[in-house]
Amino acid sequence: MKFDRSVKIAPSILSADFANFGAEIQAVEAQGADWIHVDVMDGHFVPNITFGPATCAAIRPHIKTVMDVHLMIAPVDPYIQAFADAGADVITAHVEAGPHIHRTLQAIRATGAKAGLALNPGTPAEAAAPLLDLVDLICVMTVNPGFGGQKFIHSCVQKVTELREMIGDREVHIEIDGGVDPSTAPLVVAAGADVLVAGSAVFKGGSVDNPAPYGENIRAIRASL
Ligand code: DX5
Ligand code: ZN
Repeated sequence: MKFDRSVKIAPSILSADFANFGAEIQAVEAQGADWIHVDVMDGHFVPNITFGPATCAAIRPHIKTVMDVHLMIAPVDPYIQAFADAGADVITAHVEAGPHIHRTLQAIRATGAKAGLALNPGTPAEAAAPLLDLVDLICVMTVNPGFGGQKFIHSCVQKVTELREMIGDREVHIEIDGGVDPSTAPLVVAAGADVLVAGSAVFKGGSVDNPAPYGENIRAIRASL
């Protein structure tokens, strides 16, 4: 994974057909996805359950781009190696998920994966300040994690501006997750974000048998910037 700050669209398979992940991933990549965002939920850290490392390993061969695994689980540390073995390129953990975030980020990097740090909407940018040299990506949640299709929380845009300033020349991506669509994407990109996760805004209107809307939706987000 070479670092650059060009804008990358990362469709979240949370909005895909769960019975058809392989074909959905191939379809959305063929339609212009830059990364594939994989939402892991445990029914404990967030009020919803998706899937774990075995599903990640099963979908890995279908991903030609970047496998971006967002862990909404607590605890995180006992599962890091399993997600790395599943082939994750990026493993993101929440700062709110445990008491020892330095240990978690170091453990992620020790596997060879890139380390991501996610901040819930209620967590200020300063929470990332002591961690800037331990992370490759900061995921700014613009909804409370757990479900797709929620409304973008506008007060999070200021946090992106603050993080961009704090990051300076470091090779750290700023990713936005939640409620990204053509009306909100330009706000966060102007503030300094470079990875845009989008679930419902990419998958709406399409299917593996009719993937053209995926491409139209991705181009609509790009065109809004
Ligand atoms: C939310 C997940 C997101 C979600 C985004 O808990 O982390 O990745 O799929 O979905 P949309 O784009 O529909 O808000
Ligand atoms: Zn996510």
